[in-house]
Amino acid sequence: MKLIGPFTQLITLANLSLRGKLTDEQLEIIPNGGILIQNKKIMAVGDYEDLKQQNPNAITEKQQPNIDNQIALPAYTDSHTHICFGGNRANDFAMRNAGKTYLEIAEAGGGIWSSVQHTRQATEEELLETLLERIKYLLSLGITTIEIKSGYGLDVENELKMLRVIKKAQAQTKATVIPTCLSAHLKPRDFPGDSGDYLNYILKEILPKVKEENLANRVDIFIEKSAFQPEESRNFLVKTKDLGFDITVHADQFTPGSSRIAVEVGALSADHLEATSDEDIAYLAQSNTVATALPGASLGLGEPFSPARKLLDAGAILAIASDWNPGSAPMGNLIAQASVLATYQKLSTAEVLAGISFRAAHALKLDDRGILAENKKADFVVYNTDNFQNIIYQQGRLMPSSVYIDGEKI
Ligand code: NIG
Ligand code: FE
Repeated sequence: MKLIGPFTQLITLANLSLRGKLTDEQLEIIPNGGILIQNKKIMAVGDYEDLKQQNPNAITEKQQPNIDNQIALPAYTDSHTHICFGGNRANDFAMRNAGKTYLEIAEAGGGIWSSVQHTRQATEEELLETLLERIKYLLSLGITTIEIKSGYGLDVENELKMLRVIKKAQAQTKATVIPTCLSAHLKPRDFPGDSGDYLNYILKEILPKVKEENLANRVDIFIEKSAFQPEESRNFLVKTKDLGFDITVHADQFTPGSSRIAVEVGALSADHLEATSDEDIAYLAQSNTVATALPGASLGLGEPFSPARKLLDAGAILAIASDWNPGSAPMGNLIAQASVLATYQKLSTAEVLAGISFRAAHALKLDDRGILAENKKADFVVYNTDNFQNIIYQQGRLMPSSVYIDGEKI
C-alpha cells in the first residue's frame, strides 16, 4: 500500500455526469489531498493526514519535497489518433496555406495517399520507432491511454503490418494502447474496383485476419464525399458489427449527416463533427454515442471548430481528442488544442478536463479510469502549480512534473 501526496489540490473529477454541461463549481477539489494506492488501483482519496493516520503501514511518497505546490488529477485519454505513419506532410501544410486546393495538393503527390505510400515503404521497425516516440510525447503531456488507428496501409499486408506495429508498441509502453482498424479510410488508388468492392474486400480479406491475430476489436470508417458514401458505409458498419467489432466513425467533417449513421448503428463514438447540423446535434445528444471534437484538425486545416458548446448544452457526451496525424492534425498537443477549443466554444475547465479524461475513456469502453476514486486505475498526473485552472489557462505550456501509471511514476 502506498500513499502519495500531499497535494495542494486534488481534482478528482468524481461525481460528474457522463453527459451534458458541467460547471467548475461542480468539481470536487480536495485541499492537502492524498491518493492511497494498492495493486495498481486507487483505494482511497482524501485528506492526506487523515489517510496517513488511518493507514499507518502505507509507504509514503512525496515526489519533490522542495516544491511548495503540487496538484494532481486523473491522467488523460486521447481517444482518436493516427500516430502510426511513415513520412510527413509538411509540404501539404505549406501548400494549403498558400491557397492550393485539395485536388492540387493531391496532384502534387500529397494527401492521405502520400502517407499511404510512405507507410507502405516503411519497415515494421521504422514504424515502431517513430510510433514509440510519439507515444512518449503524449505520455509527457499526461496522456496515458491512447487510441491508435491503422488506415495508411489500405491493403491486407500493410493494414496488418500497421496493426502489428501498434500491438508491438503496446508491449513496449506502459501507456494503454487501444488499436482501431481504419482500413476504410480511403479507397486506395491501386485497388481494382469501386468503393463498395473495397469495403467488401475489407470485410472478407482484412477483418477476419484482424480477428484471427487479435489485432483490434474496433473498426472505423471515414464517411465523406471524398471517401465513403453514407449508404455503403451503413451496410459496411452493420456487417462489421455482426463480425463482433465495436464501431467508431469519422463523421460530419466537411458535410453533415454521417453522425446520424453512427448513432443508428450504435457506434461508440462519432468523431470530427465540424459540419454537424443542429438536427444532428439533437440526434447525438439523445444517443449513447460519444461526440468527439477534434480541435487539432480544425487548427491544422483552418476549419471551424466542432460545436462543442451546443453539443454539451443539448446533453451529448462530449470527448475531445487530438486526431494527431501527418495531414490534417500535425500538432499532437491535446492539452493545447482542448484549451483553444475552450476559448472558441466557451467551455468550462470542468468540461475540458472531463472531455479528455473519463468521457474520452468512455468512448473506448474504459470506464475504469479518468476519475480519482476508489477502485479506479491509478493513472494520474501531477503539476507543479497551486491551481488547476493554470492547466487550461496556460494553453499547453504547463507540463506535468510527473505522470503515474498504475500507481508508479514513469
Ligand atoms: O481524421 N478525415 C480523415 N482522416 C484524417 C486525416 C488523415 C490524413 O490527412 O492523413 C482525419 O483528419
Ligand atoms: Fe482522424
